[in-house]
Amino acid sequence: MDKKTFYISTPIYYPSDKLHIGHTYSTVAADTMARYKRFQGYDTFFLTGTDEHGQKIEDKAKNAGVTPKEYVDNIVLGIKDLWKLMNISYDKFIRTTDEYHEKAVQKIFKKMYDKGDIYKGHYEGLYCKPCESFWTETQAVDGKCPDCGRPVTKEREEAYFFKLSAYADKLAKYYDEHPGFIEPISRQNEMVNNFIKPGLQDLCVSRSSFKWGIPVPVNEDHVIYVWLDALTNYITALGYGSEDDTLYKKFWPVDVHLIGKDIIRFHMIYWPAFLMSIDEPLPEKVFAHGWVLIDGGKMSKSVGNVVDPVILAERYGVDALRYYLLREFTFGSDGSFSNENLINRINSDLANDLGNLVSRTVSMVEKYFGGTIPAEREAGEFDDDLKALALQTKGDAEKELDKFNYSIALTNIWKLVSRTNKYIDETAPWALAKDEANKARLAEVMYNLCECIRMVSVLIAPFMPYTADEIRKQIGVSAEFSWDESGVFGKEETYTVSKGGIIFPRIDLEKELAELEAAKAAANPVNPLKEEIQGVAKIGIEQFADVDLRVAKITECEPVKKAKKLLKLTLDDGTGDPRTVASGIAKWYKPEDLIGKSVILVSNLKPAVLCGVESCGMILAADAGEDDVKVIFVDGIPAGSKVR
Ligand code: ME8
Ligand code: MG
Repeated sequence: MDKKTFYISTPIYYPSDKLHIGHTYSTVAADTMARYKRFQGYDTFFLTGTDEHGQKIEDKAKNAGVTPKEYVDNIVLGIKDLWKLMNISYDKFIRTTDEYHEKAVQKIFKKMYDKGDIYKGHYEGLYCKPCESFWTETQAVDGKCPDCGRPVTKEREEAYFFKLSAYADKLAKYYDEHPGFIEPISRQNEMVNNFIKPGLQDLCVSRSSFKWGIPVPVNEDHVIYVWLDALTNYITALGYGSEDDTLYKKFWPVDVHLIGKDIIRFHMIYWPAFLMSIDEPLPEKVFAHGWVLIDGGKMSKSVGNVVDPVILAERYGVDALRYYLLREFTFGSDGSFSNENLINRINSDLANDLGNLVSRTVSMVEKYFGGTIPAEREAGEFDDDLKALALQTKGDAEKELDKFNYSIALTNIWKLVSRTNKYIDETAPWALAKDEANKARLAEVMYNLCECIRMVSVLIAPFMPYTADEIRKQIGVSAEFSWDESGVFGKEETYTVSKGGIIFPRIDLEKELAELEAAKAAANPVNPLKEEIQGVAKIGIEQFADVDLRVAKITECEPVKKAKKLLKLTLDDGTGDPRTVASGIAKWYKPEDLIGKSVILVSNLKPAVLCGVESCGMILAADAGEDDVKVIFVDGIPAGSKVR
């Protein structure tokens, strides 16, 4: 009989910035699932990789003075190092610059084109460069990208379109007929209500404003939209569209695409529609996990609060970090990262509960029996209760893991860890050891402890592979084991232990928090401001010329009754007609500070009514510090002078 197969993917990451703890989270979760399935005997394929095309990369390479390929090659090395450090057992690492991928994407594009699903038209819309996404006026929020909140720019170009509109009903029907396709279910509702119901618009799938992409097969002036390029990685990695599609036949459709909630739309609408277009089966499941947040917000390079997994893994060990990520956060929801939580988790769950259990047990077997538990053993009180929980735990973990409830699965495993620790207190081996007559009973207690530890070592192995091995070494059992052994009590004849190092040393919280701050500063010599400025979308001189800047003199100024923040300014802009501007600077300036001063006016800003004041333009001011604003004064220049 053929072995059952299991195919899981992570998103393919942009090699634009250094990967952080959020990316590590996705990948560790996928790795844990892949290991779990392999253990269970599934023929498993675990895919990860990098998403290397697009304007953002082209721009970054230009800034760095290298070719885009040189730029990504270098970063991809770092990403592979990170996955090696994190013990990620991927079966394949795909790069969208791999030749086989590029060829297959062109074939896919051509297939859609020949079918009539891709046609040529014009695109006009609001483009968010960092997200590589086009938005309509209604989708953009205050002229900003609804996904990332950064400014969007208006773009018009000749382009190819994918007939996404033709797939709205088919998608809705597919969701209905395939419960579990999108998880958590709240994400499906979000997609249906926000995108499907309002009607899908055709999707622009080519770009001509930059070069760094896969050429459109029917028109080399265009490159294929990065998301069409990126999403298809999930099948090209298996050889789809190449001479050898054995893996594709074996593993597609994927069992689960693990993704972050920020890219659901791409995976739950575009990707299924693309697959329908090329007549290939849809994924079994798309599972969207939440965000790892810092102080309740997103990690951001410009804020300088990006958490570096390398620092943490090097200080506490890879397994501690893997454990923390999957235990601390509920997989479908957002969670807040903090060094303090991390250290507390390590201290309580790993150092105290698991670490102590192993070291106490191993020490006792050495102390009482010279390392080997004698064959003659005697059952007693508490044994049945312990065994019952031990036998139940495998099922309790599986039930949750099968639903991607990593945290609850670990909680269930830790119930056994705690129960086993309690068993030590209940049976009080140190008291038994005082009387030779209790030797057989003491042997049984030690045996039961070792059995439970062995079972735990199997259960935690998908999460913490190194730790599982280390524990097994200490209790003297084989490094080869199968998942099913976690459900068997009494597997080993006896145990011969050998004490090793402390698996999880206790961490001094205060001292460590201080050192982490220092380590972070040392590892991030990047200037956040420089990063921020480099990250702002470039504009052309014509765009700047659209803004009419003039020197104007403040002739009158008064507070606005209805709005504490506002001052109402009357300006002489050189035309002879007084001009009114409302400005949110009341916190920093009194009217008398301003009257008689000259400032820079944005004269062609559309008028707006602010708290009852009709404001015609705005004056320039600088954010001079946290909660400090300074108006730009330009005294000595005649009113009406153009600023450019
Ligand atoms: O989106 N918390 O790549 P990407 C949790 N190339 N997960 C996070 C996270 C955080 N703070 N930050 C990032 C892309 N992620 C595309 C994908 S797939 C065909 C193309 C995770 O490098 C999250 O899963 O910007 C996100 O979806 C993924 O990193 C990829 O981020
Ligand atoms: Mg992203």
